[in-house]
Amino acid sequence: MGSLKNEGELEESKDAILYVNGVRKVLSDGLAHLTLLEYLRDSGLTGTKLGCGEGGCGACTVMVSYFDQNSKKCVHQAINACLAPLYSVEGMHVITVEGLGNQKFGLHPVQESLASRHGSQCGFCTPGFIMSMYALLRSNKTPPTEEQIEESLAGNLCRCTGYRPILDAFQVFAKSNIYYTQMVLSRYKNLKTVNLFALQLANPVLVDPTRNC
Ligand code: FES
Ligand code: FES
Repeated sequence: MGSLKNEGELEESKDAILYVNGVRKVLSDGLAHLTLLEYLRDSGLTGTKLGCGEGGCGACTVMVSYFDQNSKKCVHQAINACLAPLYSVEGMHVITVEGLGNQKFGLHPVQESLASRHGSQCGFCTPGFIMSMYALLRSNKTPPTEEQIEESLAGNLCRCTGYRPILDAFQVFAKSNIYYTQMVLSRYKNLKTVNLFALQLANPVLVDPTRNC
């Protein structure tokens, strides 16, 4: 995994670089015709889906992270990869659903909750929902409210599961949720203190841990 060690690295480098799930990628010239979605899928990261191709369905949602020079903070945002020209995310860190977790190495709590609460049927919309929820958790310093969770999913469409199971699966991450608190406490009962919010963000992929990006 590479690291953006200092602010000058990007300016000094002649290469256009991008981080995808913690892996440094060098972008060659001549890729201006590609969207971020096309680049990801051509790279084998086909968890990110092409639905409408025009920003309406959220199937292509990924999270981008970057260090904002004005606020001096890392910003985490869910974006529609179908609308983002590839070079528009140069120097940023792109997290796709593959970067969160999988069956082999363990699911991220967001994935686990959606699966266990039957929030996925055909699964086409699922990565987009997962990434919208994950980006909300990453961008908040405290657990979100139920209203914030609902709003964060406004750009994601599902045409077969229905929204109730999906919402139920994600509302467990709301700060008011007692079920989730108990579930986490029972799973991590050997720990003396439990930072629930930190556990929700289990194992984030970081390019620059000092900036949480
Ligand atoms: S594919 Fe529908 S929003 Fe990108
Ligand atoms: S699970 Fe099929 S579109 Fe959502």
